[in-house]
Amino acid sequence: MPFPINSVRACYPALTDGYAYLDGAAGTQTPRSVIDAISDAYRSGIGNVGGAFPASHRSDAIVAACRAAVADLVGGDPGGVILGPNMTTLTYRLARAIAGPGDEVVVSRLDHDANVRPWTQTGATVRWADVDPVTGELPVEQYADLIGERTRVVAVTSASNILGTRPDVPAIAELARRAGALMYVDGVHATAHGPVDMRALGADFYATSAYKWSGPHIGAVVADPALLETLRPDKLASSPDTVPQRFETGTAAFADLEGVTAAVDHLASMVPGVGSRRERLLGSMTAAEEHELELFAVLLTGLETMPHVTVYGKPARRTATAYFAVAGHTPRQVAEHLAGLRVNVWNGHNYAWELTAALGIRDSGGAVRAGLVHYNDRSDVDRLLEGVEALRSSG
Ligand SMILES: Cc1ncc(COP(=O)(O)O)c(C=O)c1O
Repeated sequence: MPFPINSVRACYPALTDGYAYLDGAAGTQTPRSVIDAISDAYRSGIGNVGGAFPASHRSDAIVAACRAAVADLVGGDPGGVILGPNMTTLTYRLARAIAGPGDEVVVSRLDHDANVRPWTQTGATVRWADVDPVTGELPVEQYADLIGERTRVVAVTSASNILGTRPDVPAIAELARRAGALMYVDGVHATAHGPVDMRALGADFYATSAYKWSGPHIGAVVADPALLETLRPDKLASSPDTVPQRFETGTAAFADLEGVTAAVDHLASMVPGVGSRRERLLGSMTAAEEHELELFAVLLTGLETMPHVTVYGKPARRTATAYFAVAGHTPRQVAEHLAGLRVNVWNGHNYAWELTAALGIRDSGGAVRAGLVHYNDRSDVDRLLEGVEALRSSG
């Protein structure tokens, strides 16, 4: 069955404004159901959690439902879903609880800086996995030398936020497991682009952010509750010491958490399906991935055949994310030109700090990123290609 792109797009009020939203890798638009869920939560009255009155009970239920929804999305345990403002904040918190001086941490130059700096700043000894700058691949073989008996954690992304590269995480996880090291997988970019099974990936921790998959600005890290029981994060003396609550500082954004659940329900229902929400998510996200990759083939071929365009990386397995330069124009100029044509793309290093350095373009303004998510259609791709084509020989 073809992906029902028109009915999916009709769920998103913002998509009617005439812009081609190819900036999903920096944050997606939200469907009406998410917007309504957030405002309904406020409208119905919410309190802080753990109180004796109904508005507080509603917040208790919102938090529990959100943990269940995120667990369904990534194939995890609801009791191990840590919720917070964003992935970066949660990763800093967990990194401090997991690693420190005397440990070794393995980080990669493919990763967004949010899965690098929190580890390198723990005081642990840092070992770096390198990227092939031509293909954009993260060779697995190097991990056999990088991981040793002192390795506490291997931090690696499930997909690059600029090149789209999907490294062989299960193979890296197997090496980590044999050495007794933990796997911290950054799924912030990957989660939006296909079905996720954190256990199949070999992830002890799987980080994601709802604003990349049609939800509000909320982050989550999912782990086995038994593993979380072994960790002691910094926390207030007065706050709960239970798992996963002891990893969550301060008062949560309860209404937004209701929006996260609505976003998961939206993803599960993009294509008609039966069975549990988890089963419907797998079906729906598989169909969305096929839709994205089909469109992306057009986008990538279009860019690669333009003589004035350089596309970075050529990974074998990837998300629908392209990173490119246009001769004679800075990345910012390209983004401004496209914005004038109502095409949204991102320019710069996009926090892929090590990767853009490895590509030799970090200090010159990075490049242009155009990415597809499930709600993009052929006209978005055509408008991008026409806009980039128009820059030929106008440099
Ligand atoms: C791959 C990847 N990891 C981590 C992050 C950081 O996520 P957050 O904004 O939730 O801190 C991003 C954000 O762009 C990302 O793309």
